[in-house]
Amino acid sequence: MARKKIALIGGGQIGGILALIATQKELGDITIIDIPQVEGMIKGKALDIMQARPHDGYDVNIEGSSDYSKIEGADVVIITAGVPRKPGMTREDLLDINLKIITDVANNVKKYAPDAFVIVVSNPLDAIVYAFFKVSGFPKSRVVGMAGALDTARFRTFIAMETGLSVQDVSCAVLGGHGPTMVPLIRSATVGGVPITDLLSQEQIDAIVTRVKEAGTELVKLYGQGSAFFSPAAGIMEMAEAYLKDKKRVIPSAAFCEGEYGIDGYFIGVPCVIGEGGIEKILEVSLSDDEKALLNNTLTVVKKTVEETGL
Ligand code: NAD
Ligand code: LAC
Repeated sequence: MARKKIALIGGGQIGGILALIATQKELGDITIIDIPQVEGMIKGKALDIMQARPHDGYDVNIEGSSDYSKIEGADVVIITAGVPRKPGMTREDLLDINLKIITDVANNVKKYAPDAFVIVVSNPLDAIVYAFFKVSGFPKSRVVGMAGALDTARFRTFIAMETGLSVQDVSCAVLGGHGPTMVPLIRSATVGGVPITDLLSQEQIDAIVTRVKEAGTELVKLYGQGSAFFSPAAGIMEMAEAYLKDKKRVIPSAAFCEGEYGIDGYFIGVPCVIGEGGIEKILEVSLSDDEKALLNNTLTVVKKTVEETGL
């Protein structure tokens, strides 16, 4: 059986960790693409990870290049190309620059990897994934934005920290846009099947929800430059693995809605089934009136940024 091929467009902070995780999971051969100005850096990362393989014996190849023809035949393409936030910036402040970059990337992916499953990561996420979809013309089942995996991992982390219970047993979901209007679902959050409303006070839950919504900004402030990269990379690889291994995982992801949740023509975070067909299905959770209002609110914000793309 031929090895799978994973193309990483953007070999910065997240791109490097993605290459390492994909190697450690032996998901396939990896090509890292970045701009010519940093070709030495990505060639270096690729070679460094090649030399990390003997310790545990990972039989995959990693290469770095600024030549897009190297992604030819990729099964999965992961796009982190772009600029991250600096303290004081919102994700929306990145729109102009990252829109130009995604347009160039989309044209190259369309040319060299037309059959790939594409995971978009660059911010502002819900608008950039929309832009990739429009420019590439890929089917909606093969274009997805990563944000819900990360936001949900943060929600799980803070529930585990507050209850003192294993993070492994925390189950929950965050829907909506990737920004402060995101919607952590409280009613369905559990630890080992026990609702968090039976484990934590309303005050504790409110504090967790606020922290989840601001978790990216908390890290931007702590890092001083750049944004989170370990947890985003872990979430992205979970999605890539679900596709490559046809796992039928249910992962909140930014998918193109056509009627689901009453949303039409936008990418937004919803629970998705990810398997060999890409985004195989969007699962519809029955929401309370309050949750519906929160989802509407986050959709308004996403729509505004998408309209600014002019696409
Ligand atoms: P980074 O600056 O470390 O890496 C970005 C890389 O993209 C750089 O190496 C840069 O040279 C490269 N690049 C720029 N233009 C390019 C082009 N035209 N073609 C190919 N590569 C190009 O940033 P990072 O920390 O890896 O973050 C990447 C992006 O992901 C940012 O936009 C950030 O805001 C976003 N992000 C999203 C989430 C999410 O949940 N969706 C989470 C974290 C970060
Ligand atoms: C985050 C940003 C970078 O949530 O999107 O960490």
